[in-house]
Amino acid sequence: MTGQAPATILGIETSCDETAAAIVTRDRSGHGMIAANVVRSQLDEHAAFGGVVPELAARAHLTYLDHIIAQACREAGLALQDVDAIAATAGPGLIGGVLVGLTTAKALAAALDKPLIAVNHLEAHALTARLTDNVQFPYLMLLVSGGHTQFVLVRGVGDYQRWGTTIDDALGEAFDKVAKLLSLGHPGGPAMEAAARSGDPARFKFPRPLLHERRLDFSFSGLKTAVRLKAEALAPLSEQDVADIAASFQATVAHIVAVRAGQALDRFRAALPQAPANLVVAGGVAANRTIAARLHAVCSERGATLIVPPIALCTDNGAMVAWAGAERFALGVADGLDTMARPRWPLDLPDMRVQPHGA
Ligand code: KG4
Ligand code: ZN
Repeated sequence: MTGQAPATILGIETSCDETAAAIVTRDRSGHGMIAANVVRSQLDEHAAFGGVVPELAARAHLTYLDHIIAQACREAGLALQDVDAIAATAGPGLIGGVLVGLTTAKALAAALDKPLIAVNHLEAHALTARLTDNVQFPYLMLLVSGGHTQFVLVRGVGDYQRWGTTIDDALGEAFDKVAKLLSLGHPGGPAMEAAARSGDPARFKFPRPLLHERRLDFSFSGLKTAVRLKAEALAPLSEQDVADIAASFQATVAHIVAVRAGQALDRFRAALPQAPANLVVAGGVAANRTIAARLHAVCSERGATLIVPPIALCTDNGAMVAWAGAERFALGVADGLDTMARPRWPLDLPDMRVQPHGA
Protein backbone atom coordinates (compact mmCIF):
# COMPACT_ATOMS: atom_id res chain seq x y z
CA MET A 1 0.00 0.00 0.00
CA THR A 2 1.09 3.60 -0.65
CA GLY A 3 0.90 3.94 3.10
CA GLN A 4 4.25 2.55 4.00
CA ALA A 5 6.35 3.68 1.03
CA PRO A 6 8.75 6.57 1.61
CA ALA A 7 7.48 9.75 0.01
CA THR A 8 8.79 13.17 -0.94
CA ILE A 9 6.20 15.94 -0.83
CA LEU A 10 6.18 19.56 -1.97
CA GLY A 11 4.23 21.79 0.43
CA ILE A 12 2.88 25.26 -0.38
CA GLU A 13 1.64 27.78 2.21
CA THR A 14 -0.02 31.09 1.27
CA SER A 15 -2.90 31.49 3.72
CA CYS A 16 -1.70 34.64 5.47
CA ASP A 17 1.38 36.82 5.02
CA GLU A 18 4.07 34.19 4.52
CA THR A 19 4.76 32.87 1.02
CA ALA A 20 6.33 29.49 1.64
CA ALA A 21 7.33 26.27 -0.09
CA ALA A 22 9.13 23.25 1.30
CA ILE A 23 10.12 19.74 0.40
CA VAL A 24 9.80 17.10 3.09
CA THR A 25 10.48 13.38 3.00
CA ARG A 26 8.72 10.81 5.17
CA ASP A 27 10.47 7.49 5.53
CA ARG A 28 9.04 3.98 5.87
CA SER A 29 8.87 4.19 9.66
CA GLY A 30 7.12 7.56 9.66
CA HIS A 31 10.10 9.80 10.40
CA GLY A 32 10.25 13.11 8.60
CA MET A 33 13.14 15.02 7.11
CA ILE A 34 13.09 18.57 5.80
CA ALA A 35 15.01 18.80 2.52
CA ALA A 36 14.19 22.49 1.94
CA ASN A 37 12.05 25.06 3.71
CA VAL A 38 11.81 28.51 2.09
CA VAL A 39 9.72 31.26 3.69
CA ARG A 40 9.29 34.81 2.50
CA SER A 41 7.55 37.06 5.04
CA GLN A 42 5.63 40.02 3.70
CA LEU A 43 6.44 42.34 6.61
CA ASP A 44 7.55 45.16 4.30
CA GLU A 45 4.39 45.02 2.17
CA HIS A 46 2.10 45.48 5.18
CA ALA A 47 4.22 47.54 7.60
CA ALA A 48 2.74 50.89 6.56
CA PHE A 49 -0.80 49.62 7.20
CA GLY A 50 -0.26 48.25 10.71
CA GLY A 51 -1.68 44.85 9.75
CA VAL A 52 -2.08 42.36 6.91
CA VAL A 53 -3.94 43.77 3.86
CA PRO A 54 -5.53 40.74 2.14
CA GLU A 55 -5.30 42.04 -1.46
CA LEU A 56 -1.66 43.02 -1.07
CA ALA A 57 -0.93 39.64 0.48
CA ALA A 58 -2.54 37.78 -2.44
CA ARG A 59 -0.66 39.88 -4.98
CA ALA A 60 2.68 39.28 -3.25
CA HIS A 61 2.01 35.52 -3.10
CA LEU A 62 1.36 35.61 -6.84
CA THR A 63 4.58 37.51 -7.49
CA TYR A 64 6.88 35.34 -5.39
CA LEU A 65 5.43 31.84 -5.12
CA ASP A 66 6.92 30.40 -8.34
CA HIS A 67 10.39 31.64 -7.37
CA ILE A 68 10.05 30.25 -3.89
CA ILE A 69 9.02 26.82 -5.20
CA ALA A 70 12.00 26.88 -7.60
CA GLN A 71 14.32 27.84 -4.71
CA ALA A 72 12.96 24.98 -2.56
CA CYS A 73 13.69 22.53 -5.39
CA ARG A 74 17.21 23.93 -5.80
CA GLU A 75 17.94 23.70 -2.08
CA ALA A 76 16.65 20.13 -1.95
CA GLY A 77 18.61 19.22 -5.08
CA LEU A 78 15.44 17.89 -6.70
CA ALA A 79 13.41 18.55 -9.81
CA LEU A 80 9.66 19.06 -9.45
CA GLN A 81 9.18 15.79 -11.29
CA ASP A 82 10.93 13.99 -8.39
CA VAL A 83 8.24 14.72 -5.78
CA ASP A 84 5.50 12.18 -5.15
CA ALA A 85 2.68 14.63 -4.44
CA ILE A 86 1.89 18.33 -4.24
CA ALA A 87 0.36 19.59 -0.99
CA ALA A 88 -1.02 23.08 -0.46
CA THR A 89 -2.99 24.87 2.22
CA ALA A 90 -6.63 24.93 1.06
CA GLY A 91 -7.87 26.90 4.10
CA PRO A 92 -8.64 28.35 6.54
CA GLY A 93 -7.11 31.74 5.78
CA LEU A 94 -7.29 34.85 3.63
CA ILE A 95 -9.09 33.54 0.59
CA GLY A 96 -7.10 35.43 -2.07
CA GLY A 97 -3.83 34.01 -0.80
CA VAL A 98 -5.21 30.50 -0.34
CA LEU A 99 -6.44 30.59 -3.95
CA VAL A 100 -2.98 31.53 -5.22
CA GLY A 101 -1.31 28.60 -3.43
CA LEU A 102 -4.02 26.04 -4.12
CA THR A 103 -4.35 26.98 -7.80
CA THR A 104 -0.58 26.77 -8.23
CA ALA A 105 -0.61 23.34 -6.60
CA LYS A 106 -3.44 22.18 -8.87
CA ALA A 107 -1.58 23.38 -11.96
CA LEU A 108 1.58 21.56 -10.85
CA ALA A 109 -0.35 18.40 -9.99
CA ALA A 110 -2.05 18.43 -13.40
CA ALA A 111 1.09 19.27 -15.38
CA LEU A 112 3.27 16.72 -13.56
CA ASP A 113 0.54 14.12 -13.21
CA LYS A 114 1.02 13.93 -9.44
CA PRO A 115 -1.60 13.66 -6.70
CA LEU A 116 -2.86 16.86 -5.07
CA ILE A 117 -3.28 16.98 -1.30
CA ALA A 118 -5.42 19.82 0.04
CA VAL A 119 -4.18 20.58 3.52
CA ASN A 120 -6.07 22.22 6.36
CA HIS A 121 -3.67 24.87 7.74
CA LEU A 122 -4.65 24.01 11.32
CA GLU A 123 -3.92 20.34 10.72
CA ALA A 124 -0.49 21.38 9.41
CA HIS A 125 0.19 23.20 12.70
CA ALA A 126 -1.24 20.25 14.65
CA LEU A 127 0.99 17.61 13.03
CA THR A 128 4.27 19.59 13.01
CA ALA A 129 5.40 18.08 16.33
CA ARG A 130 5.35 14.65 14.67
CA LEU A 131 7.81 15.93 12.08
CA THR A 132 10.10 17.57 14.64
CA ASP A 133 9.71 15.31 17.69
CA ASN A 134 8.02 12.18 16.35
CA VAL A 135 5.23 12.61 18.93
CA GLN A 136 2.77 9.72 19.01
CA PHE A 137 -1.03 10.09 19.00
CA PRO A 138 -2.97 11.08 21.05
CA TYR A 139 -1.73 14.43 22.31
CA LEU A 140 -3.06 17.81 23.31
CA MET A 141 -2.29 20.83 21.14
CA LEU A 142 -2.48 24.49 22.05
CA LEU A 143 -2.48 26.59 18.89
CA VAL A 144 -1.74 30.25 19.63
CA SER A 145 -1.27 32.37 16.52
CA GLY A 146 -2.47 35.61 14.97
CA GLY A 147 -5.63 33.91 13.72
CA HIS A 148 -6.33 31.11 16.20
CA THR A 149 -6.28 30.30 19.89
CA GLN A 150 -7.49 26.79 20.56
CA PHE A 151 -6.99 23.54 22.42
CA VAL A 152 -7.31 20.52 20.19
CA LEU A 153 -7.17 16.85 21.11
CA VAL A 154 -5.16 15.27 18.29
CA ARG A 155 -6.23 11.64 18.07
CA GLY A 156 -4.82 10.83 14.64
CA VAL A 157 -4.39 12.26 11.16
CA GLY A 158 -7.73 13.91 10.34
CA ASP A 159 -9.10 13.03 13.77
CA TYR A 160 -9.42 16.10 15.97
CA GLN A 161 -11.63 17.31 18.78
CA ARG A 162 -11.63 20.98 19.59
CA TRP A 163 -11.80 21.47 23.34
CA GLY A 164 -11.75 25.23 23.48
CA THR A 165 -11.29 28.32 21.37
CA THR A 166 -11.38 32.09 21.59
CA ILE A 167 -14.80 33.65 21.46
CA ASP A 168 -13.38 36.91 20.05
CA ASP A 169 -9.75 37.87 19.32
CA ALA A 170 -6.92 35.40 18.85
CA LEU A 171 -4.06 35.83 21.31
CA GLY A 172 -1.56 36.98 18.65
CA GLU A 173 -4.17 39.42 17.39
CA ALA A 174 -4.58 40.79 20.94
CA PHE A 175 -0.79 41.27 21.17
CA ASP A 176 -0.86 43.03 17.78
CA LYS A 177 -3.78 45.33 18.70
CA VAL A 178 -2.29 46.33 22.05
CA ALA A 179 1.07 46.94 20.38
CA LYS A 180 -0.65 49.17 17.84
CA LEU A 181 -2.33 51.29 20.49
CA LEU A 182 1.04 51.61 22.25
CA SER A 183 2.61 52.60 18.88
CA LEU A 184 4.99 49.63 19.02
CA GLY A 185 4.57 48.63 15.38
CA HIS A 186 3.61 45.41 13.59
CA PRO A 187 3.84 42.49 14.21
CA GLY A 188 3.14 43.41 17.77
CA GLY A 189 4.03 40.23 19.66
CA PRO A 190 7.82 40.48 19.44
CA ALA A 191 7.69 44.27 20.03
CA MET A 192 5.50 43.79 23.11
CA GLU A 193 7.82 41.13 24.48
CA ALA A 194 10.81 43.42 23.99
CA ALA A 195 9.05 46.40 25.63
CA ALA A 196 7.87 44.23 28.53
CA ARG A 197 11.46 43.35 29.43
CA SER A 198 11.99 46.71 31.12
CA GLY A 199 8.46 46.90 32.52
CA ASP A 200 6.77 46.07 35.83
CA PRO A 201 4.31 43.19 35.30
CA ALA A 202 2.59 43.96 38.61
CA ARG A 203 1.90 47.68 38.01
CA PHE A 204 -1.50 47.18 36.37
CA LYS A 205 -4.12 44.60 37.22
CA PHE A 206 -5.96 43.83 34.01
CA PRO A 207 -9.13 41.71 33.76
CA ARG A 208 -8.98 38.01 32.96
CA PRO A 209 -12.14 37.48 30.92
CA LEU A 210 -13.88 34.07 31.17
CA LEU A 211 -11.26 32.71 33.55
CA HIS A 212 -13.83 32.21 36.32
CA GLU A 213 -15.70 29.78 34.05
CA ARG A 214 -14.64 26.14 33.75
CA ARG A 215 -14.89 26.00 29.95
CA LEU A 216 -11.61 25.85 28.03
CA ASP A 217 -12.44 28.93 25.95
CA PHE A 218 -10.62 32.24 25.79
CA SER A 219 -11.71 35.86 25.44
CA PHE A 220 -9.25 38.70 24.92
CA SER A 221 -11.34 41.57 23.61
CA GLY A 222 -12.38 42.91 27.05
CA LEU A 223 -8.77 42.76 28.17
CA LYS A 224 -7.71 44.72 25.11
CA THR A 225 -10.36 47.38 25.87
CA ALA A 226 -9.18 47.60 29.49
CA VAL A 227 -5.63 48.17 28.26
CA ARG A 228 -6.82 50.86 25.86
CA LEU A 229 -8.76 52.68 28.61
CA LYS A 230 -5.73 52.55 30.91
CA ALA A 231 -3.45 53.88 28.14
CA GLU A 232 -5.91 56.70 27.41
CA ALA A 233 -6.15 57.60 31.10
CA LEU A 234 -2.37 57.81 31.41
CA ALA A 235 -1.74 59.67 28.13
CA PRO A 236 0.76 60.99 27.21
CA LEU A 237 2.57 57.71 27.92
CA SER A 238 6.16 57.71 29.07
CA GLU A 239 8.47 54.97 27.87
CA GLN A 240 8.15 53.39 31.32
CA ASP A 241 4.34 53.48 31.12
CA VAL A 242 4.50 51.64 27.78
CA ALA A 243 6.88 49.05 29.22
CA ASP A 244 4.71 48.57 32.32
CA ILE A 245 1.53 48.19 30.25
CA ALA A 246 3.25 45.69 27.94
CA ALA A 247 4.63 43.71 30.90
CA SER A 248 1.30 43.73 32.76
CA PHE A 249 -0.60 42.65 29.63
CA GLN A 250 1.90 39.87 28.94
CA ALA A 251 1.74 38.63 32.54
CA THR A 252 -2.07 38.62 32.39
CA VAL A 253 -2.30 36.59 29.19
CA ALA A 254 0.47 34.23 30.34
CA HIS A 255 -1.57 33.58 33.48
CA ILE A 256 -4.75 32.97 31.47
CA VAL A 257 -3.00 30.58 29.08
CA ALA A 258 -1.30 28.72 31.95
CA VAL A 259 -4.52 28.22 33.91
CA ARG A 260 -6.35 26.97 30.81
CA ALA A 261 -3.46 24.68 29.85
CA GLY A 262 -3.56 23.13 33.33
CA GLN A 263 -7.32 22.54 33.01
CA ALA A 264 -6.87 21.08 29.51
CA LEU A 265 -4.14 18.72 30.74
CA ASP A 266 -6.36 17.59 33.61
CA ARG A 267 -9.12 16.85 31.12
CA PHE A 268 -6.65 14.99 28.88
CA ARG A 269 -5.52 12.83 31.84
CA ALA A 270 -9.09 12.07 32.80
CA ALA A 271 -10.13 11.19 29.24
CA LEU A 272 -6.99 9.24 28.29
CA PRO A 273 -5.41 7.90 31.48
CA GLN A 274 -3.16 5.46 29.58
CA ALA A 275 -1.62 8.04 27.23
CA PRO A 276 1.51 10.03 28.12
CA ALA A 277 0.39 13.62 28.75
CA ASN A 278 2.07 15.57 25.95
CA LEU A 279 1.19 19.21 25.35
CA VAL A 280 2.29 20.48 21.95
CA VAL A 281 2.36 24.24 21.35
CA ALA A 282 2.12 25.75 17.86
CA GLY A 283 1.70 29.21 16.35
CA GLY A 284 3.73 32.40 16.49
CA VAL A 285 2.83 33.25 20.09
CA ALA A 286 4.77 30.13 21.14
CA ALA A 287 7.85 32.34 20.66
CA ASN A 288 6.90 34.35 23.76
CA ARG A 289 9.30 33.39 26.55
CA THR A 290 7.04 34.45 29.41
CA ILE A 291 4.17 32.34 28.09
CA ALA A 292 6.49 29.40 27.32
CA ALA A 293 7.95 29.54 30.85
CA ARG A 294 4.47 29.44 32.40
CA LEU A 295 3.52 26.50 30.18
CA HIS A 296 6.70 24.67 31.21
CA ALA A 297 5.80 25.16 34.86
CA VAL A 298 2.23 23.93 34.36
CA CYS A 299 3.48 20.81 32.57
CA SER A 300 6.18 19.97 35.08
CA GLU A 301 3.74 20.42 38.01
CA ARG A 302 1.58 17.77 36.36
CA GLY A 303 4.30 15.42 35.17
CA ALA A 304 3.37 16.29 31.58
CA THR A 305 5.76 17.01 28.73
CA LEU A 306 5.75 20.33 26.87
CA ILE A 307 6.78 20.10 23.25
CA VAL A 308 7.53 23.32 21.39
CA PRO A 309 8.86 22.77 17.86
CA PRO A 310 11.60 25.19 16.71
CA ILE A 311 9.96 28.57 16.33
CA ALA A 312 10.52 28.71 12.55
CA LEU A 313 8.24 25.67 12.35
CA CYS A 314 5.70 27.08 14.85
CA THR A 315 5.07 30.14 12.68
CA ASP A 316 3.64 29.67 9.18
CA ASN A 317 5.91 27.69 6.88
CA GLY A 318 5.80 25.23 4.00
CA ALA A 319 7.39 22.30 5.84
CA MET A 320 4.34 21.86 8.05
CA VAL A 321 2.10 21.75 4.97
CA ALA A 322 4.39 19.29 3.19
CA TRP A 323 4.47 17.14 6.34
CA ALA A 324 0.67 17.15 6.75
CA GLY A 325 0.55 16.21 3.06
CA ALA A 326 3.04 13.39 3.70
CA GLU A 327 0.99 12.05 6.61
CA ARG A 328 -2.15 12.06 4.46
CA PHE A 329 -0.35 10.62 1.45
CA ALA A 330 0.96 7.77 3.63
CA LEU A 331 -2.66 6.92 4.39
CA GLY A 332 -3.54 6.87 0.71
CA VAL A 333 -5.33 10.22 0.63
CA ALA A 334 -5.49 12.41 -2.48
CA ASP A 335 -7.86 15.24 -3.41
CA GLY A 336 -9.56 16.13 -6.67
CA LEU A 337 -8.54 19.08 -8.80
CA ASP A 338 -12.01 20.49 -8.09
CA THR A 339 -11.15 20.96 -4.38
CA MET A 340 -12.30 24.39 -3.22
CA ALA A 341 -10.33 26.97 -1.25
CA ARG A 342 -12.05 27.56 2.10
CA PRO A 343 -11.81 30.77 4.14
CA ARG A 344 -13.20 28.89 7.16
CA TRP A 345 -12.44 25.23 7.84
CA PRO A 346 -12.72 24.02 11.44
CA LEU A 347 -10.52 21.03 12.23
CA ASP A 348 -13.18 18.88 13.76
CA LEU A 349 -15.55 18.61 10.80
CA PRO A 350 -16.26 15.09 9.53
CA ASP A 351 -14.66 15.97 6.17
CA MET A 352 -11.26 16.12 7.86
CA ARG A 353 -11.49 12.37 8.39
CA VAL A 354 -9.20 10.35 6.20
CA GLN A 355 -11.01 8.78 3.26
CA PRO A 356 -8.57 6.40 1.60
CA HIS A 357 -8.27 6.93 -2.13
CA GLY A 358 -10.69 4.74 -4.03
CA ALA A 359 -12.54 3.70 -0.84
O1 KG4 B 1 1.66 31.63 13.53
P1 KG4 B 1 1.95 33.03 13.05
O2 KG4 B 1 3.31 33.32 12.50
O3 KG4 B 1 0.96 33.47 11.94
C1 KG4 B 1 -0.41 33.19 11.99
O4 KG4 B 1 -1.11 33.99 12.64
O5 KG4 B 1 -0.82 32.18 11.41
O6 KG4 B 1 1.65 33.97 14.28
C2 KG4 B 1 1.81 35.37 14.21
C3 KG4 B 1 1.34 35.95 15.51
C4 KG4 B 1 1.29 37.47 15.46
O7 KG4 B 1 0.07 37.90 16.01
C5 KG4 B 1 2.49 37.87 16.32
O8 KG4 B 1 2.32 39.13 16.96
C6 KG4 B 1 2.53 36.74 17.33
O9 KG4 B 1 2.24 35.58 16.58
N1 KG4 B 1 3.85 36.63 17.95
C7 KG4 B 1 4.08 36.81 19.26
C8 KG4 B 1 5.48 36.71 19.44
N2 KG4 B 1 6.05 36.43 18.22
C9 KG4 B 1 5.02 36.38 17.32
N3 KG4 B 1 3.24 37.08 20.27
C10 KG4 B 1 3.79 37.23 21.48
N4 KG4 B 1 5.11 37.17 21.74
C11 KG4 B 1 6.00 36.90 20.74
N5 KG4 B 1 7.31 36.84 21.00
ZN1 ZN C 1 -0.72 29.55 11.05
